[in-house]
Amino acid sequence: MSTFKAPKGTYDLTPPDSAKYLAVREALAAPLKNSGYGYIETPGFEDVALFSRGVGESTDIVTKEMYTLTTKGGSQLALRPEGTASVLRAALEANLHKLGNLPVKLWYSGSYYRYERPQKGRYRHFSQVGAEAIGAEDPALDAELIILADQAYRTLGLRNFRILLNSLGDKECRPVYRDALQGFLRELDLDEETRRRIEINPLRVLDDKRSEVQKQLVGAPVLRDYLCDACKAYHEEVRDLLSAAGVAYEDDEKLVRGLDYYTRTTFEFVHDGLGSQSAVGGGGRYDGLSEMIGGPALPSVGWALGVDRTVLALEAEGVELELPATTSVFAVPLGEEARRVLFGVVTQLRRDGVAADFAYGNRGLKGAMKSANRSGARFTVVAGERDLAEGVVQLKDMESGEQTAVPLPEIAGTIRECLAR
Ligand code: HAM
Repeated sequence: MSTFKAPKGTYDLTPPDSAKYLAVREALAAPLKNSGYGYIETPGFEDVALFSRGVGESTDIVTKEMYTLTTKGGSQLALRPEGTASVLRAALEANLHKLGNLPVKLWYSGSYYRYERPQKGRYRHFSQVGAEAIGAEDPALDAELIILADQAYRTLGLRNFRILLNSLGDKECRPVYRDALQGFLRELDLDEETRRRIEINPLRVLDDKRSEVQKQLVGAPVLRDYLCDACKAYHEEVRDLLSAAGVAYEDDEKLVRGLDYYTRTTFEFVHDGLGSQSAVGGGGRYDGLSEMIGGPALPSVGWALGVDRTVLALEAEGVELELPATTSVFAVPLGEEARRVLFGVVTQLRRDGVAADFAYGNRGLKGAMKSANRSGARFTVVAGERDLAEGVVQLKDMESGEQTAVPLPEIAGTIRECLAR
C-alpha cells in the first residue's frame, strides 16, 4: 500500500471486478444506441450557475452536495452533480435543436460528483448512463424511455426491481397544488428547517423519511386531485403505453425527485435488495429547464441509471454476468530463441484480432503456466529449444489438457480454426 488511499466516499475499479462495470455500462447503453439516441460527452465541470439555476437553488444537490471551485482566472465552477443540465446546455450551444427533426435524442455515460454522506450505494464519485430526448412533448417519448430502461435492466438479468410512476403537473396546475399543500403543512407541528422547506419546496416535505413527519402527512392534499385536464390526459397516455408494452409500474403519488426541474412524468426504478439507497435509476420530464437556463421552450424528458447501484443490485440478486474471456491464447516461451519466436506469434495473432497474451519476465515454466491458467486463455502455446529445432510449437487445449505439436508456420491459422469451432 502507498501512503495514499482513494478519497472518502470513492472507490477504485480494478480487475477483475472492473470488467463487470464495463459490461453493465455497455448493457445500460445498448437499448439507447438501438433506438435513435446519439452519443454526447460534456465536460466534467460547468459554470456553477448552470446547476444552481437548472437543478434548483433549494435542492440538497445545490445547497449541500456540490463540489465547487474558483479557478485561478476567477471562474466559479462545479464538478457536475448530474448530467441533464449539462447535456441540455451542450445541445443548445451546438444548436442541435435547430439542425433537424425534434426530438434531439442523446445518450451519455460518465462520472458524477456529490458531496454526500457516504454509505453502501451512496458515493461521492459515481457513474451514470443517461438519456435525454429534447424538444418534444409526446407521451410516447416518456414511455419509450421507461421501456428502454426496463429492457436494459432485464437484459442484464435483474428481476426484483419496481418502477414507481407519478405526474408532478405543469406550470398551470402545480402552483395551485403547491398553495394547497403549503396551507396544509403550515398547520403541522414541524421543526424550523422543515418549516423553511414548506416555503421553498413544499413537495419535498412529502418525501421526509421521519415517522413523526409521515404520521402528520395523512390527509395531505394529493397532487393527483389537482392535475389539470391536459396533465391528466398526458399521464393516462403514458400509463396506457407502458401497459400495452407489458411494462408493470406502480403509481406513487409521493414520488418527488430531488431535482427541481421536473414537470409531469416522473419515475424511479427501485431495487428491493439494496436497503436505503434503493433507487437504481430515475428521471422524468423537464419542460421548463431550457428556459430556466436561457434557452427557448423545449419540452424534454430523460433518465439516468446508476452504474454502481446496478452492479450492487446484480450482486443482491446473485446474477452472474457472462463475461467473455479477455485472453484466448497465452504464449509460454522456454529460452531466448523461443521468446523471440513466440513474441512474433502473439503479435501476429493480435493483428488477426485474436486476444493473446505472453509470459513476460522469464519466470520459468511453472510460473508461466500459472499465469496462463489465471488468464483464462482457452489455448496455451509452449515452445522450447527442442520444439524449435523440429520447427514446431506445442498447442495445449486448456479445457481438455490435450497437447499437439503444430508446425510453426501454421500456428496462427490453426489457432484461428480451433477458436472458430
Ligand atoms: P438522480 O435520481 O439524481 O437523477 O440520479 C440518477 C441515479 O444515479 C440514481 O437513481 C442512482 O442510481 C444514481 N446516483 C445518484 N446519486 C448517487 C450517489 N451518490 N452514489 C451512487 N449512485 C448515485 C439525475 O441525476 C437526473 N439527471 C436524471 C434525469 C435525466 N432526469 C432527467 N433526465
